Amino acid sequence: MPMRKTILDLQEMAQKGEKIAMLTCYDSSFARLLEEQGVDALLIGDSLGMVVQGHDSPIPVALEDIIYHTECVYRGSRSAFILADMPFGTTGVNPEDTFKNAVQLIQAGAQMVKIEGGAMMCETIEFLVARGIPVCAHIGLTPQSVNQLGGFKVQGRAVGQAQQLLRSAKMLEQAGASLLLIEAVPQLLADQLCEQVSIPTIGIGASAKCSGQVLVIYDMLGLGGYIPPRFVKAFIKETGSIAEAVKLYVKEVKSSLFPADEHCYK
Ligand code: KIV
Repeated sequence: MPMRKTILDLQEMAQKGEKIAMLTCYDSSFARLLEEQGVDALLIGDSLGMVVQGHDSPIPVALEDIIYHTECVYRGSRSAFILADMPFGTTGVNPEDTFKNAVQLIQAGAQMVKIEGGAMMCETIEFLVARGIPVCAHIGLTPQSVNQLGGFKVQGRAVGQAQQLLRSAKMLEQAGASLLLIEAVPQLLADQLCEQVSIPTIGIGASAKCSGQVLVIYDMLGLGGYIPPRFVKAFIKETGSIAEAVKLYVKEVKSSLFPADEHCYK
């Protein structure tokens, strides 16, 4: 049986310059297929609120939903690294409650939790990391804050906002985050964010310079059901089968062909 990848494997890949191919995953059949096609890491994203549950944002997703889907993914996979989103309202109230919520995701099979938000999440991240829970910090477009942001919009175009993101990235690393996920920021800013930190970076609508990439699986299979954002490439259109689409995604991420400039923001 292949050994399951760990955070050390992802760090080693990043150090060697081998790109990390990550996709979202919500069930055991997809978990098996994705890792058979070479996907390194599976994210149980709260995007499931939109692509599985049919909501128009991830806000209604409950902790129990992510626990259930994490258990499904864990049962279907053997070798991929698993990380799970902490949904809206389950982080940041106080570090103790966030810890109790994160524990449930780790017990469901996640090896890491993903937390949206910038520098204000540092205290929480320190608390979790000190108690054995690795954290992926998610900055840029943070969909749980869609009401605050006024829509799913590119972040960091204004100079002040870009500087704040650069400061947050450093602070999140210092607080102990093991991965930095960067969503929907201008390509040049994404490049600077990658240079700013020494932890692996995962991009979505960011830059090919990131240590790895992630997409929502249904988006790359052309099933998004909405006009896809610029960073989505529907790999299925070139391949015709789910397995081949995933294989092509892995190949293009590993060879830095994806994302191309057309998938990045100016
Ligand atoms: O919820 C999710 O799927 C995510 C990715 C889009 C990064 O956070």
